[in-house]
Amino acid sequence: MRLILIGPPGGGKGTQAKLLSQEYNLRHISTGDILREAVRLGTPAGKKAQPFVTSGRLVPDDMVNEIVNELFKRADRPTDFVLDGYPRTVAQAKYFDTILKKRKLPLTKAILIDVPDEEIVRRLSGRWSCPACKATYHAEFNPSKTAGKCDACGGPLIQREDDKEATVRRRLEVYHQNNADLLDYFRAQGLLREVSGAGDIQTVYANLVRIL
Ligand code: AP5
Ligand code: MG
Ligand code: ZN
Repeated sequence: MRLILIGPPGGGKGTQAKLLSQEYNLRHISTGDILREAVRLGTPAGKKAQPFVTSGRLVPDDMVNEIVNELFKRADRPTDFVLDGYPRTVAQAKYFDTILKKRKLPLTKAILIDVPDEEIVRRLSGRWSCPACKATYHAEFNPSKTAGKCDACGGPLIQREDDKEATVRRRLEVYHQNNADLLDYFRAQGLLREVSGAGDIQTVYANLVRIL
């Protein structure tokens, strides 16, 4: 199964991708996680990406496309995956199509997890993430068992730099600028499905499983 999850910042893409990857044995690929890791390590790509990621603007298409291309060039390339946060523009979607065609890996579905803007700030202001294993928690909706500590790997939890309210607003703006065209692109191919992301984590997950 090869899935793309589309949705607003803080819409639950990472949370649901993690659950799907465990249930269906899919590789979870998040371009946001890859970029943040590159920034943390200070690689050349990370240095270029940092001003975009921290200010909540999109990293240039060429750069993200190249990251994904490298991943699919490897001998251990993913064949079954859930992509979270890529493609995000029509240019990226077209580029990704050429990669998938070359590897004979047709997409199964592109799924929009729809969450109203009012809910987003609430979700992101309470988010805690584990940089080591990428698990995500929420102070109120999905707390870790010990405050500040990851249930899965025991590592320390952090708050993301781009979750400040002004940056969240910028990310939402960027999302709304690009998303209608992206949805049209997948709709035209008959690949688009939509689920409401407004319920709790298990309800949203059940909605996803139902359409799969
Ligand atoms: P990225 O990392 O992709 O961030 P994003 O799209 O803004 O999405 P988030 O990771 O913030 O949210 P999410 O949907 O994963 O939600 P989560 O599951 O954590 O991108 C970051 C940056 O990298 C971009 O701004 C850009 O600069 C760059 N970038 C990345 N990809 C790019 C690309 N393709 N092109 C160009 N630039 C790119 O959930 C959020 C919180 O809510 C958590 O605390 C969670 O526990 C909680 N929660 C989840 N579901 C529920 C629920 N149902 N009810 C209650 N709480 C919930
Ligand atoms: Mg995420
Ligand atoms: Zn962890």
